[in-house]
Order: sequence, then structure tokens, then C-alpha cells
Amino acid sequence: MTNVTGLKCVRCQTLFSIDHYSQDCPNCRAQVRSNLVVSYDETLRVKRPKPGSASPWTLWRYGDVLPVSAAEAVSLNEGGTPLHRLDTIGEELGLTQLYGKDESRNPTWSFKDRLACLAVSAAKKMGAKTIVSSSSGNAGAAAAAYACKAKIPCVVFTFKGSSGPMLHQMRAYGAQVVAVEDKKDRWTLMEHAVRNFGWFPTSPFFGPVVGSNPFGIEGYKTLAYEIAEQLDWRVPDWCVLPVCYGDALVGMWRGFEDMMAFGWTDRMPKFVAAEVYGSLTSALADKADGPRDMQKTHDTVAVSIGATQGTFQALDIVRRSNGTAVTASNDEMMNWQSKLAVRQGLYVEPSSAATLVAVEKMKGTGVLKSGDSVVTLLTASGLKDTATTAKYQGEQIVLPANLETSIRTLTERGIFPGDPSRV
Ligand SMILES: Cc1ncc(COP(=O)(O)O)c(C=O)c1O
Ligand SMILES: [Zn+2]
Repeated sequence: MTNVTGLKCVRCQTLFSIDHYSQDCPNCRAQVRSNLVVSYDETLRVKRPKPGSASPWTLWRYGDVLPVSAAEAVSLNEGGTPLHRLDTIGEELGLTQLYGKDESRNPTWSFKDRLACLAVSAAKKMGAKTIVSSSSGNAGAAAAAYACKAKIPCVVFTFKGSSGPMLHQMRAYGAQVVAVEDKKDRWTLMEHAVRNFGWFPTSPFFGPVVGSNPFGIEGYKTLAYEIAEQLDWRVPDWCVLPVCYGDALVGMWRGFEDMMAFGWTDRMPKFVAAEVYGSLTSALADKADGPRDMQKTHDTVAVSIGATQGTFQALDIVRRSNGTAVTASNDEMMNWQSKLAVRQGLYVEPSSAATLVAVEKMKGTGVLKSGDSVVTLLTASGLKDTATTAKYQGEQIVLPANLETSIRTLTERGIFPGDPSRV
């Protein structure tokens, strides 16, 4: 693989060979479990020209600095998503430079395409016979789509009771979607297949979770490159992400580090993790080495970021960037899901809306200043889970088959202009 020297531990920096992609670091395991990331030789982080106008506006615009070349990539034209200026919301919150990176514009309608694209490209290059993921959400849908593009069979382990558009989406791509009765069997079965049959994992499958496939994480570097380029090579003061295992957080951090070495930018942003149960928030407060497993106090509307325990890799980046973590409740996320749609025309998953919850809170406490540039990562489309939105919407108007009554109702409701008493 291009410039790749192996995989290294994010905590102790020990270097392993590239076939360690399904393991955590054995040296750190006794203290805290930590993930491995791709390590490159010294020819990667050198001064290099910025991408030219002839390069395509997709993730492969930055193919030269990814572990798999564009020619070998399994691609569905991912990346190149818009960075919207959230002007109306920014004005409301008193922020002059608030942005939303709209990742719903990826091929399977979430940012996981960046991960799946790189992981499946690496799998294909390494001769993998089966792709496997344990997910009832975006990661499984993305793995299924890229596996089918690569012509590699895909198995997704999920659990009985999970439902919704994402499961249908996985099956539509032809993945074998297997639901288990007991949720924890998903990982046991996946581990069995990875260890005994050499299936290639794109998602985590053991706990405490350390993060996802190291090659996949490299795909998220392109989020950083795109954001910097879209801001005319200015680095935002803050990047705010909905965080579960922190793969995107690590990938983006690595992308911003790259750009300083390439001579494209001159500083790093601070990272904010928007989370549900407060695992990172509490570890930061306690100055703990690793993230704590929290009580599941309620069922969250943001299923995509619904883990009770964060990862070492996520905590590490939040700390190293002088950033922070903020929790988001169901009502707060649903309120911001609605506001983003109504004020900006962006309908995102509840997890993505958690970023705006964090922004509002941080502006309220004075951590964010009005002139700070803030990029929120809107990771997936609201269409991934319309049932949750529906629960929070008011009653829908249904009209009878009677024109006179219909006109009266519409006038009374203020949808038709005019005086209702004169209908
Ligand atoms: C829509 C969405 N947002 C955020 C996340 C969290 O991503 P990460 O595990 O990279 O922190 C996920 C993960 O499944 C997701 O599906
Ligand atoms: Zn280690």
C-alpha cells in the first residue's frame, strides 16, 4: 500500500504489521484498550502542492495521501460534500461563522461511506473473501454498498428488534443481514468469523471498543482536507462532531495534522465531541486515562451514537486538541433536528443534530466567541430514521372528501389566507 509502513498504536506508538487490522494494542491492553492507526513512511508528510482545479471534487481528490490509490479504489464517488454556511442559525446563536458539513450527500447518505470506501478498498487489495460488519445502522449500510461494488460478499450482524430503513438498505445491496436474539452474540459471531475464516471487519467486534478498521479511519482524513479547502485553506477554530467510537474524530485530527506537514495550513482546530451518556465528559472531568462505561439512563433518539462507553482514541483527540465533550438529551436533539430543517433546509439524523446542541451550550457558557469559526459535522440524513422524527411532530392535517369543509379547515388553520368567520 502506498507509503504504508504498518499500523501503530494511538497510545504507545508501537508499530505492528498491516495484518493487525482486527486487533487492539497488546502492549496497552492491561491499562486501557487502544486502537491502531495507519503509519506511513517519511515520504507522506512532506511539502506538496494543493490539489489542482482538474482533480475531481470527490474523496479521491486527495488520493495521493491515502493508503490505497485512486486506481485501486472501490468507489461510489463518495466525498466532495457541501459545506453550508448556517447563516440563519448562526445569527440566532450569535455566531458569525457557523458551518454544517452535509454528509448526507454521500452515496449511502452518511459519512460512513468515507470509512467503508477505504476499508473495503484495503480489503480488496488484501484479497479478502468476505466483508463483515456488526451494525444496525449507517456503518452496515455503507459496508454493504461498498462490498457489493467490490464484488465481495458481505455479512452484517444485527440484533432482533432493530428495524427501520437502514436494515432494508443493507439488504437492498444484497448483504446477508443476520439478526441475533441476544445482542452480545453479534460480536461473538463476528469475532469467530474474523479469527477462523479471515473475514475482513469494517466495524468493531470486541469490547471495550477501541474503534473501527484502521484503513477505514483514513477515509475520514478527507473530511479535514475538504473543510480546509472549502474555507479557502483556513482552519476552523472548532470542529464539532457527534461521537460514538471517535473514528471520524481521529481521522479528522490526522487529516489536519497532514495538512500542516504538507504546507497547506498552519494550525489545528479544537475538537468537540457531542455525546449521549457522557462517557468522555466524565473522563475529562476526572482526568481519567480511559473513558468510563456509563449508566444507560434512557433510550436515546440518537441510536447511532448510543454507546455508553467512549474510546481511548476519542478521549485522546479531545484532550490533545484542547477541546471538550458535551452531552445532548433527546429533547435537545429533536429540537435542533427540527430547527436545522426549518431554518436551513437540512434534515439530518438526531445524532447529527447533537452537534448544534453542543454549539448552543458552548455559546451559552461563553466557550464559543461570536467570531469563532465553527464547523458542525452533519453525519447522516434524517431519512435514515423518519419514525423518530414522526414521534416528535404534531398531528398531521387530514381533510375529508368535502370541499367546503376542507376550505374552512384550511382557513381556520391559517394555511389559506382570509377570515375564518367569513368562509
Ligand atoms: C450518523 C452517525 N453519526 C455519528 C456516528 C459516530 O461516529 P464515530 O464512531 O466515528 O464517532 C455514527 C456512528 O455510527 C453515525 O452513524
Ligand atoms: Zn499501545
